[in-house]
Amino acid sequence: MIPSVLDAPAPGWTADADVVVIGSGIAGLVAALRCRPHGRVLLVTKALLDAGSTRWAQGGIASALAPDDTPDDHLADTLTAGVGLCDEAAVRVLVTEGPDAVLGLIELGAAFDRAGDGEIALTREGGHHRRRIAHAGGDATGAEISRALLAELKDSGVEVIEHALVLDLLKDAAGRAAGVTLHVMGEGQPHGVGAVRARAVVLATGGLGQVFSATTNPEVSTGDGVALALRAGAAVTDLEFVQFHPTPLWLGADARGQQPLISEAVRGEGAHLVDHSGERFMVGRHELAELAPRDVVAKGIMNRMRETGEPCMLLDGRHFGAAMWERRFPTILAACRHHGIDPVTEPIPVVPAAHYSSGGVRTDLYGRTTVPGLYACGEVACTGVHGANRLASNSLLEGLVFAARIATALTDDLAAADSAGPADTLVADAVATGVGGLVDPGARGEIQRIMTSFAGVLRSAEGLDAAARELAALPRGGTGPGVEAWEATNLHTVASAIVAAARLREETRGSHWRQDFPERSDGRWRGHLVTRLAGNVLTTAYEPLEGNDE
Ligand code: SIN
Repeated sequence: MIPSVLDAPAPGWTADADVVVIGSGIAGLVAALRCRPHGRVLLVTKALLDAGSTRWAQGGIASALAPDDTPDDHLADTLTAGVGLCDEAAVRVLVTEGPDAVLGLIELGAAFDRAGDGEIALTREGGHHRRRIAHAGGDATGAEISRALLAELKDSGVEVIEHALVLDLLKDAAGRAAGVTLHVMGEGQPHGVGAVRARAVVLATGGLGQVFSATTNPEVSTGDGVALALRAGAAVTDLEFVQFHPTPLWLGADARGQQPLISEAVRGEGAHLVDHSGERFMVGRHELAELAPRDVVAKGIMNRMRETGEPCMLLDGRHFGAAMWERRFPTILAACRHHGIDPVTEPIPVVPAAHYSSGGVRTDLYGRTTVPGLYACGEVACTGVHGANRLASNSLLEGLVFAARIATALTDDLAAADSAGPADTLVADAVATGVGGLVDPGARGEIQRIMTSFAGVLRSAEGLDAAARELAALPRGGTGPGVEAWEATNLHTVASAIVAAARLREETRGSHWRQDFPERSDGRWRGHLVTRLAGNVLTTAYEPLEGNDE
């Protein structure tokens, strides 16, 4: 049983806005700023404004800015990485609007690193045939973008509530999104469970990496937006494509929670992946060797670990020298040294960890979900640009480009929208159908163990069946007023949806690796898996792409 509405007390307060934006990474901030001309905008975020994944993004933001690059080249690399499942129209939007969007960030004050000639310095990452990754502070790109957008937010008139976990979507009698219920944990007013009425709701809640034991995602990435969208009846697409970053720092077999990332840009600047005998095992496995698309490198590392029996592989950048490490990768250098590894004198132990959800809440090219009035952008969304495997550094770009498009869509959509309706009706609707059965907060670690054991990098029918069984058997009975039971329930909902999709897709494609179906099968599986929740039951259906002729 997956609850279709969270069991929550009746809201103790209400607030109003024209647009409520949930999340404060690049997508949420851009959506809030760009929607401001539409009226009152309320931005709510689960922790502090800069606590989400954007701040942790190292490598950079991809766009065809170099004289020898074109949006078509960027499109080709994105489609290749996505292994046949990208929506080409969405990718075209991304790559053609991308360069201006990045230049727009610079106009806002984001300070990207410059080359000796004063031009924006561009690096390479996995799957890119050109240097097209702009970066800031060496390896602190997300932090700089976040800083610039937060500075812009300050005097924008956007209202902000921090420490607020979104619970469920409010709908009006016509089934249109009309606000959200929230639990505000911070001090001050409002406090506790409340309802925000709004004419449009934008989900920008980020990722779901905390579903797994080891992830590059921060603590807050618990899949809240995907879980809310499912409960609201929205279609969620391609959740089986969870990307495992090839090179987080290996902190031992028992490492749990957020792991330090060693950016792909380290390989982009020439570091080599080697096994413990010093052999560059990616050479010969792919024409781009260490700079193959992310899924290929993650699989290469896992295979070499299995062949050698080692618990990690090594990333060797000693030839950079101390000055380059300090200038180009200060964050990574400090993180490695903090953990007792000095990349200047020794190779870095690395192992894949959960990093990014290529699937998410299905949207059109303007962020519209299948529920009228509900929009999604950033990692929580599935716009179609990533397919089965996201190209490196396309994520910040996607958040930037598609969040702005939601503001464009709202010009027409809000004009057509009904008014939100009386608060009492909306609030009663939101709580009356709650079925209870929250997951016990103590089950969070169990969910992570189950997902890592059975639905991680390597999957099989046997393991996924076990995952489904063990997830279904987890204890219920979680209660408020803390947010832990709601978060655990969100993790459980998302984990169950990932397992259902991963079980159904009997092939290996992109970041979905089935040991029992090791080949890609375009004849059976060139299409999307669409998950919905209705009557407390999840269903996942296959939707073939046009042109499947095998
Ligand atoms: C990295 O810096 O390696 C991460 C970039 C990304 O996830 O796109």
